[in-house]
Amino acid sequence: MPNAISGFSKLTKSEKIEWLLDSYFTNKDNARTLVKQYWNSDEKLQKLHDEFIENTITNYYLPLGVAPNFLINNKLFTIPMAIEESSVVAAASKAAKFWYDRGGFKAEVISTEKIGQVHFIFKGDFKQLESFFDTIKPKLISSTSHITKNMERRGGGILNIELRNKSEDLDHYYQLHATFETLDAMGANFINSCLEQFASTFKAEADIHLENPLDIVMSILSNYVPNCIVRAEVSCPISDLKSKDISDPGIFAEKFKQAINIAEVEPFRAVTHNKGIMNGIDAVVLATGNDFRAVEAGVHAYAAKDNKYSSLTHCSIENDTFKFWIEIPLALGTVGGLTSLHPLVKFSLEMLEKPKAKDLMKIVAVAGLAQNFGAVKSLTTTGIQEGHMKMHLMNILNQFEATAEEKSKLVTHFKTNIVTHSAVVEAIENLRN
Ligand code: MEV
Repeated sequence: MPNAISGFSKLTKSEKIEWLLDSYFTNKDNARTLVKQYWNSDEKLQKLHDEFIENTITNYYLPLGVAPNFLINNKLFTIPMAIEESSVVAAASKAAKFWYDRGGFKAEVISTEKIGQVHFIFKGDFKQLESFFDTIKPKLISSTSHITKNMERRGGGILNIELRNKSEDLDHYYQLHATFETLDAMGANFINSCLEQFASTFKAEADIHLENPLDIVMSILSNYVPNCIVRAEVSCPISDLKSKDISDPGIFAEKFKQAINIAEVEPFRAVTHNKGIMNGIDAVVLATGNDFRAVEAGVHAYAAKDNKYSSLTHCSIENDTFKFWIEIPLALGTVGGLTSLHPLVKFSLEMLEKPKAKDLMKIVAVAGLAQNFGAVKSLTTTGIQEGHMKMHLMNILNQFEATAEEKSKLVTHFKTNIVTHSAVVEAIENLRN
């Protein structure tokens, strides 16, 4: 075990790597070569990546794939997806094509409100606090004018600030609950700057006007955005569901709906069901430079909004029409943050024809819905392993360092044989003997 190190962040990149090699690695040359192999030869590009975070030692690649044929509100998109899981892009592409042939996806943004809170402790009389808040509210808003003026010029800004009494949940706990419209920005910096200004103005005025002290605990946006909602949907006559792998559309539709209903009532299934949705959502969120942790946190909180974790997608069969939809909160940006910094994010956004935040919300929701359609369709028909293992075959072949010729022979072999890890190992051994 190495000794604790102080001043690590001040070391040069090479010094950091050497410290790591000395501290943890037996074969230092191999480890050094590996780390440097992932450096970009374009020094400017490498520097850009080095400066995204602190203590960068190298780059960590994820594949950037694309899923074509997404027809969304009658416009065709090729969707960029950054993800490591082998079957995700293939499943998205397949679902996109399936629905392209059936009229495509419809999507609409229902609301775009973001939220931030100043959390504080006040041990005095609530009525006094309430009337103080009512008097000070205009000043709270005007004190942020230096932060909000550009956003306001574009049509966004602070929507409202409320005083919320949370003292029944926690002694003496209150909050300023503020709502914002941040247009094409995800808005985290804008919201947090406004909140910190509210807190400082609020505290300064309280010190003058209130008998009891008011202690600010923290000021931060909420990643729970239940009023920043997008809905995406597919529908078609049941008979139109007939396809290469759906021979009886009526049975398929019923079974598919049952699978969705199970995810609506059974949290153990709902979590995996929603994980499949997030396969699609995270991949696009990441490719477009958005914060997938924020999206994940908000989406799962929304899935539990009725006090029980449930499915994010729903299905109905009415008058011989099959309908499948998703409704989720998505706080996304297409300006600011990484969107103008990371070259591949810029590339992805250009591929999506430079969407507004609302357009991106629709695209991301559609990617989630498509992913879920693909997963539940496989689960209720062939099972998930067939497609998954077909895609995973290449990973196993790479693990065994198969040559191009071996790969080609084995891919052909597994077109008509079931892929399991042991079957692949056996086939490689047979081939090599
Ligand atoms: C795997 O990454 C995702 C699935 O488990 C989703 C699901 O079960 O619906 C296939």
